[in-house]
Amino acid sequence: MSEEAGRTTRRFLTPPVRQVHDFLRARMESQHMKVSVDAVGNLRGLWNAENATGKRLILGSHIDTVPDAGAFDGVLGVVLALELVESARRLQLPMTLEVIAFSEEEGVRFSFPFIGSRAVAGRLDPAMLDFKDADGVSIGDAIEAFGINPGVNADAVADHDAIGFVEFHIEQGPVLEAEELSVAAVGSIVGQTRLDLRFVGHANHAGTTPMHLRNDAMAGAAEWIAKVEPLARRTEGLVATVGKVEVQPNAGNVIPGVVEASLDVRHVHDSVRRTEVDALLEAADAISIRRGLKIESTMKMDEVSVPMDERLTAFMTDAMVAAGFPPKLIASGAGHDAMIMAGRMPAAMLFLRSPGGISHHPDETVRVEDVEAALKVGERFLERLAGELG
Ligand code: GLV
Ligand code: MN
Ligand code: MN
Repeated sequence: MSEEAGRTTRRFLTPPVRQVHDFLRARMESQHMKVSVDAVGNLRGLWNAENATGKRLILGSHIDTVPDAGAFDGVLGVVLALELVESARRLQLPMTLEVIAFSEEEGVRFSFPFIGSRAVAGRLDPAMLDFKDADGVSIGDAIEAFGINPGVNADAVADHDAIGFVEFHIEQGPVLEAEELSVAAVGSIVGQTRLDLRFVGHANHAGTTPMHLRNDAMAGAAEWIAKVEPLARRTEGLVATVGKVEVQPNAGNVIPGVVEASLDVRHVHDSVRRTEVDALLEAADAISIRRGLKIESTMKMDEVSVPMDERLTAFMTDAMVAAGFPPKLIASGAGHDAMIMAGRMPAAMLFLRSPGGISHHPDETVRVEDVEAALKVGERFLERLAGELG
């Protein structure tokens, strides 16, 4: 289920997302879940809606992907959540489970991540529906084209009766493999800044314009991009990435007039991240002034580092021990829907080992034994939580 033959690419509400919905909806219905699609295209299934405790736990992850993605980032968490509905049925647990397949987490189509979980957490400002993709289609247009009325935003927001959110996800890094562990609970998720920089010069003829009379946006952007890596390396634990560049007019015999470059910066300490973002922007300003370019930056995301809920995470580490695994805790360098949901309700995460530490790449994979481990831990977690609900 992909936009591209031979590669897994599934951006917000593109046609393959409907195929994923059809597949998951059939699965949810076979599990006697009440299925709906909310105002931003999240697919939601409710199991055991009428239970005596009135308590509802939300499980889930995202079903969009980066371009040329692996098969597990996000969607594994949705499939595991549906398996845990089976566990809850078998164990006759006295709680409602809601499984959400979030429509968007990666930020690929609109350079704006977490559309799905922002809506559920009540953090999707209606003005954000006007953000446009590379083809000039707005988020609101994309939602309408999918057959949903984007005006009805309120139906996405989680009710206050939800007692928490739990996300299962591959680690996407090398730590668990290095320590020969199947799973780990997540202690916190690092903060991230994402912004777009626009270097504006003058497009002109590549053959007739002497080197000293140019305002080459590409030369300026390239000088800055080359500085990002050494600047980031000065700070322990900081990661900074320029992953996307667009050139106008993008022709071999024209001096580039405009270059747009993305910047993604992450660090466990928010103050360090913000200081380094400022330093990177100052470097871009200095280069632009010297080269006679204009520079504009647009903030796309500025999320603080988010600790997971202590109580739910303690239940998770207890569940790991009960299932026969060490209670390993790690920090997440990747962003997750749980970091947005944590603003609305207690949130916890369980990571599964990523072989080779590879993710955002088609070689991304997961071991069957680690999936089995995650299910065992998930079952013990649900039992532990149900015990508390009384
Ligand atoms: C999500 O995949 C991220 O970029 O952290
Ligand atoms: Mn991802
Ligand atoms: Mn993910």
